[in-house]
Amino acid sequence: MAEGQGAQVSEAQIAVHWREEEYYHPPARFIAQANAADPTIFERFREEQFPECFKEYADLLVWDAYWHTTLDTSNPPFWKWFVGGRLNACYNCVDRHLATSRNKAAFIWVPEPESEDTKAITYQELYSRVNEFAALLRDFCRVEIGDRATFHLPMVPELPVSMLACARLGVVHSEVFGGFSGAACGDRIADSGSRILVTMDGYYRNGELIDHKAKADEAVAAARERGVVVDKVLVWRRYPGQYASKSPMIDGRDFFVDELLKDYRGTLVEPVSMPAEAPLFLMYTSGTTARPKGCQHSTGGYLAYVTGTSQYYQDIHPEDTYWCFADIGWITGHSYIVYGPLSLGTTSVMYEGVPTYPDPGRPWRIAERLGVNIFHTAPTTIRMLRKLGPDEPNKYNYHFKHMTTVGEPIEPDVWRWYYDVVGKGEAVIVDTWWQTENGGFLGSTLPALQPMKPGSCGPGVLGIYPVIYDEERNVIEAGSGRAGNICIRNPWPGIFQTIWGQPERFVQIYYERYCQDEKSTDWRDWPYMAGDGAVQAADGYFRILGRIDDVINVSGHRLGTKELESASLTVEEIAEAAAVPVMDEVRGRAVEMYVALKPGVSPSKDIEAKVAEAIEHEIGKIARPKNVWIVPDMPKTRSGKIMRRVIAGISNFADVGDVTTLANVEIVDDIRHHVQGEKVARGEVPRELSPQEMEDIKAFGHAE
Ligand code: WTA
Repeated sequence: MAEGQGAQVSEAQIAVHWREEEYYHPPARFIAQANAADPTIFERFREEQFPECFKEYADLLVWDAYWHTTLDTSNPPFWKWFVGGRLNACYNCVDRHLATSRNKAAFIWVPEPESEDTKAITYQELYSRVNEFAALLRDFCRVEIGDRATFHLPMVPELPVSMLACARLGVVHSEVFGGFSGAACGDRIADSGSRILVTMDGYYRNGELIDHKAKADEAVAAARERGVVVDKVLVWRRYPGQYASKSPMIDGRDFFVDELLKDYRGTLVEPVSMPAEAPLFLMYTSGTTARPKGCQHSTGGYLAYVTGTSQYYQDIHPEDTYWCFADIGWITGHSYIVYGPLSLGTTSVMYEGVPTYPDPGRPWRIAERLGVNIFHTAPTTIRMLRKLGPDEPNKYNYHFKHMTTVGEPIEPDVWRWYYDVVGKGEAVIVDTWWQTENGGFLGSTLPALQPMKPGSCGPGVLGIYPVIYDEERNVIEAGSGRAGNICIRNPWPGIFQTIWGQPERFVQIYYERYCQDEKSTDWRDWPYMAGDGAVQAADGYFRILGRIDDVINVSGHRLGTKELESASLTVEEIAEAAAVPVMDEVRGRAVEMYVALKPGVSPSKDIEAKVAEAIEHEIGKIARPKNVWIVPDMPKTRSGKIMRRVIAGISNFADVGDVTTLANVEIVDDIRHHVQGEKVARGEVPRELSPQEMEDIKAFGHAE
């Protein structure tokens, strides 16, 4: 419906007017060596070539048996890719490189303390370690094909070793971000039905050797409460032979991996030839309910997709030194630290600690020392490094050819610092938009062939055909200046297969809204709804505005408002809770909690602290709220729904939007007065929001 007709325009569609940014063109030196420099590649991935175009990605792998059907759409939206094909992901990432590169570093691991030496792990050594650990899993833990194994591991080489060992056996790994709490880990153990937990005694974070094993005990207890008993806890040690945790080892349940491995020295395990459709791993993410979603990724489709996108979008050549500065406990790390780069046989750098330890020059020292030439990180890291060390990159002699940003919208201003200062004006940047559910990139520029535009991810990547729909499924045209729900019209090999154990939710969340005909087996009737608001410029480039569902993106981590609220409700005094995002200079967004107390309870600092602690305990430090506001009541609709958008507006000193549908309008001014008054007193008034941020706040909670 055209604007100006007096029709109700939904918030996701509100017109956005901001300045178009200028193009940046890739340096000639980059183009001369790029994997994808010939524009005929666009022909090969034209929509008419779908789905066969993805054969090009699958052919980058070694298959034990070739597939007979590229895409099977008989049971939508449970797409099957490369049906009939068989392969092993570990074989593709490790064994196949031995003939040519056994002595080359697969990983270079940089411990956080600078006094500790960097460790290079060659493909040969990785092969040995993966085989031995696979033998241990098979013979000692008795895991079988299709079983799940949960990991709660930090950024240490033992994490990819554990992942690849599972992949070798056809066991489904499920890594929980090391920074998440024991309780959150326990939930995920229970949801996936894992009987094995692989963890570590400790690791370094900001100069401190953290006791991590303690979380395993909480995780096992939390899983037991939900009816799942963990038989074995395998504990890697940061320093083999020395135990860095105070938590006791439970006899018969907890085992030191370095001790067990002595029995498996030199043991080799045949890689199990798996159907392309077999699940490779689960990666949990937050959604609109408190129950996390275990995104199930396939073996053949996933590996083909991350290998292909690593080749063309990361421009990885075997001789590159590639550093993705992200956590493997996040989908980015699975796809673009482990599976993609290793499948291409490159050297992947892993860093244990925080970017600014011991000072904000650390990443650039690592880059200089190791000769890193491809660098990949998130806006939150870039913002932090800029804030604490704006001139640091100039002091180090490294040269990147290629840089990536991922995980959140990047402000054009931050983008330019990344380009000019970190990249020294020599590197091409790809802003890659995608999600845990997607396996690999959805929106980006092809680095040698499409110019960059700060703040926009670019068009859909090869073989991905995005569209923006309004609430009525009308297409919002490129260049209209209107925002809507970004969807992908077609399936692709990296798309997750289902939500573990919740196939109905899979269909409901991602497909129901825009599916034309539930009986149809034509993929064209099943667009995938990403859950992001977006706007498309006349040149076809997308700007991602942020989540339209109740998810808050803190430093690239997706936190569900429901999870935050349920955690707050574990505090006895709390009657109601609502979580909202607040703009944060470094983390992009931070969490603020609004809570209402049970009758008869008086507000106190103590209750605020209890809420913050409960959230840290249930989810993890990353989720700790910036503020907890105790309010007399929540702004609610007549049907009793909390209007999060209103309090989000207050927290951000932004427009609260239309409040006429509220049952208790008078509360809005009360809350504003209290919250903004406090914020002014604490010097927490945010800078003025950009139009993009304003859109994000307005759209927040829109899916309610
Ligand atoms: C957001 C991370 C803008 C988006 C790979 C998405 C982005 C969510 C970008 C997924 C980007 C990711 N520009 N926003 N380049 N990349 N997002 O599942 O809201 O941790 O839906 O996957 O992050 O986060 P997730």
